[in-house]
Amino acid sequence: MCGIVGYVGRAEAPRALLQGLRRLEYRGYDSAGIATLNGAGIAVRKSVGRIADLERLVAEKPIHGHTGICHTRWATHGAVTQENAHPHFDQSGRLAIVHNGVIENYLDLRAALEEEGHVFRSQTDTEVLAHLVGREFDRQPAHTKGALVEALRTALGQVIGTYGIAMIHQDVPGVLIGARRGSPLVLGIGKGENLLASDAAAMVSHTRDVVYLKDYELAALDADGFQITTLQGDGAGYEISQVEYTEKDVSKGDYPHYMLKEIFEQSGTVRDAMRGRLVLDEATAKLGGLEMSNAELRDVERVVITGCGTALHAGMVGEYMIETLAHIPVECEFASELRYRNLPLPKDTLVFAISQSGETADTLAALRESQRKGHRTLGICNNVGSTIARESDGGVYMHAGPEIGVAATKSFTSQLVVQALIALLLGRLTHLSHSEGLNIIRELDKLPDKVAKALELNDEIARIARKYAQAKVMLFMGRQFNYPIALEGALKVKETSYIAASAHPSAELKHGVIALIDEATPSVFIAPRDAVFEKNLSNIEEVKARKGPVIAIGTEGDDHLGHVADDVILVPEAPDFLTPILTVLPLQLLAYHIAVELGRDVDKPRNLAKSVTVE
Ligand code: G6P
Repeated sequence: MCGIVGYVGRAEAPRALLQGLRRLEYRGYDSAGIATLNGAGIAVRKSVGRIADLERLVAEKPIHGHTGICHTRWATHGAVTQENAHPHFDQSGRLAIVHNGVIENYLDLRAALEEEGHVFRSQTDTEVLAHLVGREFDRQPAHTKGALVEALRTALGQVIGTYGIAMIHQDVPGVLIGARRGSPLVLGIGKGENLLASDAAAMVSHTRDVVYLKDYELAALDADGFQITTLQGDGAGYEISQVEYTEKDVSKGDYPHYMLKEIFEQSGTVRDAMRGRLVLDEATAKLGGLEMSNAELRDVERVVITGCGTALHAGMVGEYMIETLAHIPVECEFASELRYRNLPLPKDTLVFAISQSGETADTLAALRESQRKGHRTLGICNNVGSTIARESDGGVYMHAGPEIGVAATKSFTSQLVVQALIALLLGRLTHLSHSEGLNIIRELDKLPDKVAKALELNDEIARIARKYAQAKVMLFMGRQFNYPIALEGALKVKETSYIAASAHPSAELKHGVIALIDEATPSVFIAPRDAVFEKNLSNIEEVKARKGPVIAIGTEGDDHLGHVADDVILVPEAPDFLTPILTVLPLQLLAYHIAVELGRDVDKPRNLAKSVTVE
C-alpha cells in the first residue's frame, strides 16, 4: 500500500528511482511522484495516474541528481490529485518526504502548525509530517546529517500512527534518511550507492544485499555507507541478508501480464513449497521453522487460522486439511474480525497467520492480539524478512518468489501446499499411520506434474472465457474442500474483471441464490470426483432445470459432467484434500482470460493494492 524508493549514489537518481518504482507499482497506482537534489535545490515531478504517466512527464521535463526519493500512491487521506501525490514538502520547501502509512493524529498536528503560520498545499497526513520534521530541523543549531536525523526523531516522537519514510533535504546533500514503524522499509547496500525501498524487489537490479529495518528504527544513508539508530537515539544492530531472487524473477519475461506468468510458475512453486520438507523414512513433513518440539505439537488442542483475501481462502482449505488429517478442531477467521473478537480459546491454541506479503495490517494486528493472549503464533509468509514473518513465534516460508500481479495466484497454491505439510506433520504425530503418511507424501510429490498438466488447458479455458465474458453476474459453487475454491474463483473474477461474482456452498443454492439463475447468469461448479461429487451433480441439475449456463470443473476421466454442464474443464485426479490445488488453476485462468477479453488492467485492477498496510 504505497511504494517508496530512495536512492543515493553516483548514478543518475531518476533512472534508478523510476526503475525501482515500477517494481512497486503493485502497492498502489493512483498517482506517483519523484524528487531529486539537483545541486540548486529540489527538483520535483508529480502526476496523477500510473507510473508510466510519471515516466512520460520526466521524459518531457527531465530532472537530475544523485540523491532522490519517489513514491507510488494508494490514496488514504485526500483525493487522488496532483497536490496530494507525494513527495510532500515542509514549510521552507527545502525538505521532501515520501511516506507509506497513516499519521492518525495529523489533524491535531496540522491545526497546531497552522496556528504557527504553516501553510499546507494538500489534504494529506504526510504533508503534516514534512512540516513537523522541517520545523524541528530549522530549530537545530547546525544543518548536518546528524541534525536531520535528530529532527526526524523529535518529529516522530509527536506522531501517532504508522510510517515507512524516505526523506531528503537540500541543506544536507548526498544524504537519504529513512524510518519505519508498521510499514516495511528495506535498505539496499550497493557499491558506491545505497537505496531504501518498501520492498527489496525495487532494488534487485542494484544489489541483493539488504537490511530489513525494524520498527522504531531510523537509517541515514550516503553513497558509501549507512547508520541505523533507534527512535531513542541508540545505535541499532542489524543483519545483512541476501535476497533470494534476481531481477529476472521480477520481470514479466515473455508473458503479456504478471498474472499469467505467475499462474504458469505454479508447477515450480508448488514443488518449491515442499522442497526438502518431505521425510520419506518417517513418512512425515519436516518444518524446522515452526520452532516447536514434537511434544509441543502433540499438545496442540486447537488451531486458529487467519488472513485476508486470498490468504483467508487458503486458510479455509487448511481448516479442512488439518481437521481431516490431524483431527484437531480448527477455526478460520478473517483477520479483520479476529483482531477485535475476543475468542475464548484453550491455552494450547496455535494461531496461523497466512500472508503472502507478510505486511497486511489486519493480519499483523490479529497476530499481535493472539500473542497478547498468550497463544503461540506461526506465520505462513512468502516475503522473507517481512513483519509477520519476524514477529511470529515460528513459521513456514512459501518460497514462491516475488508475486507482482495484484490478484494472488501462485502464493495461494503455495499456501495450500504448506498447510498440507502442516496437516501431515500434525497427523503423523497423532493418529496417521506410517503407510498413510507415505501415501500422502507420494501424492504430494505427484502434484507439480499434475499442476503442469492442468495448465495445458489454458487455450480451452480462454475459449470458454470469451463465451461468458459479457456476463453481469457469475456464481461459483463448491462443497467441502472446494467451497473455499469457489470463494477464490469468485474473488479472482471480481478483482480482475469487475463482474459481480459470488460464491456459495453448492447446497445453499436452494436457500436463496437460485433466484438469481437465468439464461444470462453462468454458474461455475467445482465438482471433482470426491466424496460429495454426486451431491454437486444434483445441484448442477437444479441450475440446468432453470436454464442457467453451467461451467463445471471436474476430474479427468469423468463422463457425467459432460451430460449436464455446458462447458467442462477436467483436471488430473488427486485425493480429496489436494484437489483444491488443481481445481483452482482453471479458475485463475478463467478470471485472467475474462479480464483480458474485457480489456481490464489485469495486473493492476482499479482500487486495489497488493499489500494492504492500513486497517
Ligand atoms: C490484498 C490483495 C489480495 C490479498 C490480500 C492479502 O487485498 O489485493 O490479493 O489476498 O491483500 O494479502 P497478503 O499479502 O496478506 O496475503
